[in-house]
Amino acid sequence: MSNRMWGGRFASGPDAIMEAINASIDFDRRLYAQDIAGSIAHATMLAEQGILTIPDKDAIVKGLETIKGEIEAGTFTFSRALEDIHMNVEARLKEIIGEPAGRLHTARSRNDQVATDFRLFVRDGIDRFIAGIAALQMALVVRAEDEADTILPGFTHLQNAQPVSLGHHLLAYVEMLGRDAGRFADARRRLNESPLGAAALAGTPWPIDRDMTARALGFDRPSANSLDAVSDRDFVLETLAAASICAMHLSRMAEELVIWSSSQFGFVRLSDRFSTGSSIMPQKRNPDAAELVRAKIGRIVGALNALILVMKGLPLAYAKDTQEDKEVTFDAFDALELSLAAMTGMVGDLVFDRARMRASADAGFSTATDLADWLVREAGIPFREAHHITGRAVALAEARGCGLDGLTIEDFKTVDARIDSRVHKVLSVEASVKSRRSYGGTAPDNVRTQVARWKGLLG
Ligand code: ARG
Repeated sequence: MSNRMWGGRFASGPDAIMEAINASIDFDRRLYAQDIAGSIAHATMLAEQGILTIPDKDAIVKGLETIKGEIEAGTFTFSRALEDIHMNVEARLKEIIGEPAGRLHTARSRNDQVATDFRLFVRDGIDRFIAGIAALQMALVVRAEDEADTILPGFTHLQNAQPVSLGHHLLAYVEMLGRDAGRFADARRRLNESPLGAAALAGTPWPIDRDMTARALGFDRPSANSLDAVSDRDFVLETLAAASICAMHLSRMAEELVIWSSSQFGFVRLSDRFSTGSSIMPQKRNPDAAELVRAKIGRIVGALNALILVMKGLPLAYAKDTQEDKEVTFDAFDALELSLAAMTGMVGDLVFDRARMRASADAGFSTATDLADWLVREAGIPFREAHHITGRAVALAEARGCGLDGLTIEDFKTVDARIDSRVHKVLSVEASVKSRRSYGGTAPDNVRTQVARWKGLLG
């Protein structure tokens, strides 16, 4: 049987392989709500413009609402022969309301229809990401507030560098996530133009009102060029790029949870709710959720790669290539949403081992920079020379098997006579952290200020 939507031109139906490669209904059924909303906006506008009669419009809208109910109740029968969500809905509409169903597609094409549906879907996704990011930020801010005075070794090269406040460390991710949300918001602003009414590619002779449909669907304006409107997918690419960066941040955070929860570090314990056991080793607690969040970026960047390659070299205007935009996007969106939720759950449940962090912060001569700063400040020594003197003090402490604050004043005098007993005040990790009051620095008071700022921003 030839397809009933274009049967006039065709003598035979498609080969089974053709149907298999062409049909998108198995995945684009996820666009049903957007598709129906778009059709309702279109029919309403057509009636307003006198292109559809009011009774036809009413029948169409009522029929579409019925179909939405059927899909949500799981009673709708999707058909591969009908290719995609657009034709499945329209064919069912015909069954329910008869002849007026055939008038819905006046002044419209599946090309502007799918572009509209997908923009709406991506926009909904962005809104969920922004909300998910805010929830994770809030979870981090709440933990940061309690851990402003907790001392953690700060690392560079994953080697002990300088002690920092755990609250400061957590707030670093809050900043990254804030930029992620900003990127999604930027993408949303550019995305928010309505392709509906661009029709197949060239616009339409019908006296449609594109401002009206744009408004009805929550778009800021109709898109200004019909060729662009039906063919570009940069709005998805931009969103996937933002998603990739966000997933990268989550992956970094997840990696720290994996490292910190190892018995070697022992900084943190993940809750039972977010850990798994081993089927053979009874003692094991594995950070599977963190590992999966660490890994999900693979799919998300994969989707960005896949779609940017689909789009590369595509001539104007619509081409079926763009049907390949959906599966990877759905998969990437699901992955990011789940990652955000899993990370929020994990952060809320973390049990920090403050004593262990504190002890670890002491290791590795982490207050050496404080000694060098003291030499500059109190003895007027240039920083480069102070760096050398401190290096000698570190070597001596290492030989003695103690920390810098374990050296006696006599020890220090053998390193440099200008050092006096006041130096001991700056050698503790607590003093070091407290002293870093420069804007953006790790001092606990700074952390409390930033916690208050973020609480205000996150409402
Ligand atoms: N399923 C199609 C897609 O996702 C809808 C548009 C079809 N347009 C066409 N001219 N064949 O792109």
